[in-house]
Amino acid sequence: MVNLNMSKYTIITLDEAPSTNSWALENISCIDDGTVVYTANQTAGRGRYNRKWVCDESDNIYMSLVLKPKKSDNYPYTNLTQYLSVIVCEFLNSEFSINARIKWPNDILVNGAKISGILAEAYTHNNKIEAVILGLGLNVNMKQETLNKIDQKATSISVVTGKTYNSEIILKKLIDTFYIKYEEFVSHGFSCIKDFYISKCDFLGKNILISENGERKQYFAKAIDDDGLLIALNENNDECKIITGDLLC
Ligand code: BTN
Repeated sequence: MVNLNMSKYTIITLDEAPSTNSWALENISCIDDGTVVYTANQTAGRGRYNRKWVCDESDNIYMSLVLKPKKSDNYPYTNLTQYLSVIVCEFLNSEFSINARIKWPNDILVNGAKISGILAEAYTHNNKIEAVILGLGLNVNMKQETLNKIDQKATSISVVTGKTYNSEIILKKLIDTFYIKYEEFVSHGFSCIKDFYISKCDFLGKNILISENGERKQYFAKAIDDDGLLIALNENNDECKIITGDLLC
């Protein structure tokens, strides 16, 4: 394990880990607020709904950002993954001229193929959220051959640009980007990313199929409200607020 002490945050670099989210949870009491746990060799990556996150050794980003809010009352917990998805889109555009889009609630796609996924997990003590572990997988150098084995259309920065990269350098720039607007986001919540989030959504104004607790429901995706919830019309044209769920198509 290598600790890179920077001015604003610490990156804990692991040679290998089953899952950076699991490692962060297991070591939560020794990890400071704002620390990033990173590895390029994740052996049992986890995705949302207990799905597997496919990893290989081609130098990709597998990282978990540990956030321990001091004042938890107004902390925008529920919008954290949306904030990170916005940052990833902004970063892919500024750094690689890649036009990424967001699939509800926080998958990041390029030309309809998933390039990055986010898994947020809470650490609670006495029914209080003590920490949030914000896990991010970003396919940096994954080759088409491995991507083809994933059960949904997937891509990597390397496949899109035709170049290879050092994932540690990309990670550092990505985390710097995360922290530029983080304090503003903590103070103002979803409102400060709402317009950008909406501009990146690829599902608004479309018929969508959402899986919620194992049940599949058809909706029309109408809008995103001020709290970051999806306003959708069901089959009876009734307005529903969707908090999470998995957008199937
Ligand atoms: C998803 O799209 O379902 C979320 C994928 C999240 C994967 C990342 S990789 C780093 C961190 N550690 C994990 O085990 N999962 C997250």
